[in-house]
Amino acid sequence: MDICEIIQHQHDEQRRQFAELEQWPRDDTEGLSAVWDRLAILLETHAEAEERFFYPPLLALGTGAADAPSADEEVEDAVGDHNKIRDAVRRAGEEKVGTDAWWTAVVDANVANSKHMGEEERQDLADFRQQASLELRHEVAIDFQRFMAQKAAEGITPRNKNPEKYVDRESGEKVTAADRSAGPKEPSHTASEQE
Ligand SMILES: [Fe+2]
Ligand SMILES: [Fe+2]
Repeated sequence: MDICEIIQHQHDEQRRQFAELEQWPRDDTEGLSAVWDRLAILLETHAEAEERFFYPPLLALGTGAADAPSADEEVEDAVGDHNKIRDAVRRAGEEKVGTDAWWTAVVDANVANSKHMGEEERQDLADFRQQASLELRHEVAIDFQRFMAQKAAEGITPRNKNPEKYVDRESGEKVTAADRSAGPKEPSHTASEQE
């Protein structure tokens, strides 16, 4: 298994489920509600699993990729984005399913999530692919999927986090030589301009 593949795949599944909602018969509020609830659970379990299992080793090994100058920057940004997605999901939960206000909150969640996924793919995932060993990518995938499976059955309560405090708290995970990529020991590739 590979955590980078799993995250990429779950992003595609999130895009697919938003597209499903857009095409759903608008008068079938029971169906809309069920499809949305399933997506909201996927968004939250995915975000929480990244915060628990993916970002800490990224903070330890990452060097910054694409338009992110450092792993700290990548993660701080990502946790802030997760909070924005949570806020929109929460707003949708407060509105009557199928109303204009509900659709606005759902589309706001889609916009925040799309922006976040694009950034996470070109920064966080690109950085981890270049810096982490295949063994570590496998180990993180096991922890991540274990959590996803447990929460899919139990449910999960969304909790916003302070991005700066998160990075301070989660930095310093111990890594060994085996956790590092087997390739040349060089920083990840970056863009001509950074954030
Ligand atoms: Fe993600
Ligand atoms: Fe994320």
